[in-house]
Amino acid sequence: MVAPALPRPSRLLVGLPADEQRAPRPAEPRPGSSAMTERQPSEETRTAIPGIEEAVPPPSDERLAAAAASPLELSGAALRRLVDAAMDRIAPHLDSLPHQPAADTEGAVAVARSLVEPLPERPAPLDEVLELLFERAVPKSFNTAGPGYLAYIPGGGLPHSAVADLIAAAVNRYVGVFAAAPALAQLEANVVAWFAGLAGYPQAARGLLTSGGSLANFTALVTARRERLPEQFLAGTLYASDQAHHSVQKAALLAGFPPASVRSIPSDAAFRLRLDLLEEAIAADRSAGREPFLVVANAGSVNTGAVDPLGPLADLCARHRLWLHVDAAYGGFFLLTERGRQTLAGIERADSIVLDPHKSLFLPYGTGALLVRDGAALRRAHSVTADYMPPLSDDDELIDFCEISPELSRPFRGLGVWLPLKLLGAAPFRQALDEKLDLARWATDQLRAVPEVEILAEPELSLLAFRLAPAALAGAAGNRDRLDRLNRDWLARVNARRRVYLTGTMLGDRFALRICVLSFRTHRDRVEQALDDLRAAAREALAAWL
Ligand SMILES: Cc1ncc(COP(=O)(O)O)c(C=O)c1O
Repeated sequence: MVAPALPRPSRLLVGLPADEQRAPRPAEPRPGSSAMTERQPSEETRTAIPGIEEAVPPPSDERLAAAAASPLELSGAALRRLVDAAMDRIAPHLDSLPHQPAADTEGAVAVARSLVEPLPERPAPLDEVLELLFERAVPKSFNTAGPGYLAYIPGGGLPHSAVADLIAAAVNRYVGVFAAAPALAQLEANVVAWFAGLAGYPQAARGLLTSGGSLANFTALVTARRERLPEQFLAGTLYASDQAHHSVQKAALLAGFPPASVRSIPSDAAFRLRLDLLEEAIAADRSAGREPFLVVANAGSVNTGAVDPLGPLADLCARHRLWLHVDAAYGGFFLLTERGRQTLAGIERADSIVLDPHKSLFLPYGTGALLVRDGAALRRAHSVTADYMPPLSDDDELIDFCEISPELSRPFRGLGVWLPLKLLGAAPFRQALDEKLDLARWATDQLRAVPEVEILAEPELSLLAFRLAPAALAGAAGNRDRLDRLNRDWLARVNARRRVYLTGTMLGDRFALRICVLSFRTHRDRVEQALDDLRAAAREALAAWL
């Protein structure tokens, strides 16, 4: 695979002086003017699109009349009005994100129920619909795009990708088959090649963009199954640590493996997969006639951000001829940073890697990525032909995504990644990720200074886990339940302040709070607020429980 370098910023946004960027647009037709209702391509359009005159004669009067009668056929001017109206809501919404509550779900179920309705026969006014969305539905949710969202795995949602999605959906080109939109399919292939370059993969690597990490893990598992097991694969057994994301278990289930085929290997005190126990489990399964075929490693676990020992795991997998898949859905894009590369060293030896642009590349939800070191394996696992299909490429460099993925028709996901990287270049992403690494370490040091706080997981990347463990409740097993309830209460009190939103998890038999600093909108000021709230809420919770 040709791995072009990650792009430098385009002049188009970042290169212009700030006052030029803000320059007003040229005068546009006002609603109601004749230009707003015109349906013929303007002179500008005709000259901007090569070949338009020759290919398509101007529409007849009847055709224009028919189009004017159908609300489905939006003129360019009417579409602009629609987008402008949406923008009038989107822009203030985005600008106010830091001031919105970190989560606001009180009464949200009632709002949800109030929206149930039969398929509408009549049109609704645009204003009414936008009001419903922006004033009733959107506010009643976790503010996943805001700087205070430190829960689960954030990302933020770069607005540049929203623009890409608008373009992609508006031009509605077909990128499942290379021949249908070669240049656009190539842009997506470039994105995959950039990611493969980041992972240190060779030219032969291939990959695809999926809807998220779960589907990418699933596609990896199906590929590993095809490469390492016979067609009758039910003796196949796979291994992951007890910290693996549940999408691994789900992928196995969907790929036809009963739950008993998935071995959960205990992790060590730092929540990393234990190699000695993995070796033992493989040996036991082999002697019981089972067929070990796959190890799934964490490169940033969802619970604590743990990174399994990737180099030693690659050695072990090579020795046992097992496929090594690395779930770097959260951690993967830290490869952009020097510290991330050190932490994730060995990832380049994996057979496949999942990275989620909608996590550590800050994209809006809907984009995951799978890379496979031997790209031909993806094709072997997915390629099926049919008579009605257009000819697929026989040039290895020209990629038909339908041949290497479960999808045929698919959204043009590549644009949502390509556009922000092209407009901004890689540097701001690297800086933002470095900032998150610093913030997580700083938050850990601050929490360590609180006498009753126990750090359960130091940040390997930008995620940490901790709990209150006051001396009065520590030690005795009988206090475990009380300790958990104290910590759940602490979490609830922090979230009730609505400046940050945190979530908890079980680490073995201990309930822990987590902070995942990952949104590009989260900076030191918000982490300071998180710490202020944690300290104040800790005082209240301890007073209530001791
Ligand atoms: C480590 C890890 N793997 C996989 C996934 C699943 O990704 P997605 O939610 O994009 O399907 C997640 C989601 O948080 C994750 O943290």
